[in-house]
Amino acid sequence: MSAPRQSRLPGFHALPVAERRDLIARVADLTEDERAALASESPLALDTAARLTENTIGVYALPLGVALNFTVNGRDVLVPMVTEEPSVIAAAGNAARLARGGGGFTADADPPWMIGQVQLVGVADPRAACARLEAARARILARIDEIEPGMARRGGGARDVEVRVLEAPLDRTFVVVHLLVDVGDAMGANAINTIAEGTAPLLAEIAGGTPHLRILSNLTDRRRARASVRYRFDDLAMPERPGADVAAAVELASLFAEADPYRAATHNKGIMNGIDAVALATGNDWRALEAGAHAYAAREGHYGALATWRVAEGALVGRIELPLAVGTVGATVDGNPRARLALKLLGVSSARELAEVLAAVGLAQNFAALRALATEGIQKGHMSRHARAVATAAGARPDQVEALAEALIASGDVKVERARQLLASGASTRAARPATS
Ligand code: MEV
Repeated sequence: MSAPRQSRLPGFHALPVAERRDLIARVADLTEDERAALASESPLALDTAARLTENTIGVYALPLGVALNFTVNGRDVLVPMVTEEPSVIAAAGNAARLARGGGGFTADADPPWMIGQVQLVGVADPRAACARLEAARARILARIDEIEPGMARRGGGARDVEVRVLEAPLDRTFVVVHLLVDVGDAMGANAINTIAEGTAPLLAEIAGGTPHLRILSNLTDRRRARASVRYRFDDLAMPERPGADVAAAVELASLFAEADPYRAATHNKGIMNGIDAVALATGNDWRALEAGAHAYAAREGHYGALATWRVAEGALVGRIELPLAVGTVGATVDGNPRARLALKLLGVSSARELAEVLAAVGLAQNFAALRALATEGIQKGHMSRHARAVATAAGARPDQVEALAEALIASGDVKVERARQLLASGASTRAARPATS
C-alpha cells in the first residue's frame, strides 16, 4: 500500500456530501483536480463513454460511497464502493469497525496467474498428443513470451503449460491446453486472449488436430485471495444479547450455507454485494469476478459457501477464499477517471493488494448480513432506509426526512400517502437524527 490512511472517521455519515468529500480528499491526499473531479456531476465524458462501448446514447450514473473503518493487514484502507443497494456500504463499515478490536482483517493473494484455454479438436491420438505437448513445454512458454514481450519485461509472463484429455458429451474427445501466465497488475483478459489465439497454431502443429476455442478461463483458481477476521465476543454484544450468543448464531447461519446450495447462493450474493461494488468503483470486470466466484463455490461438485464462520477461543472467526482476478492497470481502469480516483482512495499499489482488500470486504459484508439475519433480521435496517426514501418522495425537506421516517415506521404504514399526511400534520418538524454509518 502507499501512504498510510486513517479509515476511522467518526461522524462521517452525518456530514453533508460536500464535507464528506472534502474530508476524504484530505485523508487520501487528493490533488485539487482530483477533488474537483470527484465533485463533478458528469463523472464520465460522453466522448470517453462512446469510445468504451457501442451505440452510446448517454451515461448512466450510480452512487459512489466510501466504506470506513477497514484495517487490512494492519493498515487502514478507505474502500470506495459503487452500488445502488441501500445498507451495503453502511453494513461493510459497521462490520469493519467491530473487527478493529480483534486487529482487523488479515489477507493474502496468490501471484496474478491467469489461465488461457485452447481447445484442440480432431486430434488423432489424444494421449500421445498430450505427451508431445508436455515435452514441448519450453517451446510453448517461449512462444507466449514472444507474443506478449512487455509482460515478461515487467516481471510477469509465461509460467506453465498444463495439458489434459477431456471427455465431452456426444462421445467427443478434446485435448485442452491451459496456458498459465503471470499478468502482473492487469486483470489480463486481453493479453490472455491474445496469447491463446497466438499460441494455438503452434499447439496444433505439435498435437495435430485443429484449434477451436482460444479464450481465458474465468475460473481463475490460480489467482485466489483469502481473508480472515476474528471478532471478540465483547465486540459482538448487542443490547440484551451477549457476544457469545451472537457468535453462536452467526456460526449456525454459516453451517446452513455450508450445507445447502439454496442458502449458499444468497450467502455468496451478500459477499459479492461488497466485492462487486469495489470492482465497479475501480473499473474492474465484476461479471468476471461473479463467474469465477460461483464456479469456485461449486468446485467440490456441489455449490457451497465462499466464507465460513466458527466460534473458537472466545471469538468468532471468519474465513473467505475465492478467485479474484482484478487489475489496477489496463484499458478500462485507465480509461475511466473515476476508477483511477477510486484506486487512489484505496491506496493500493498492486493488483494483489486490491484482491486482498476485496477479500476482506467480501468477508465483512458476509459478517454484517449473517449478524443481522441471525439476530434481529435485516428488514429493520432496510425499513428505516426505505422510510427515508418514502419521506423524500413525499416532499420532505432534508431536515425533515429523519423525523418523518421515524414517524412513518412508528405508524406501521410506510407509504407516500401516509408520509404526506404526517408532513401536513407537522410530525416532521423535529431536528434530523443521523443515520448509522
Ligand atoms: C441482500 O442483498 C444480501 C443478503 O441476502 C445476504 C445474505 O442473506 O447473506 C442479506
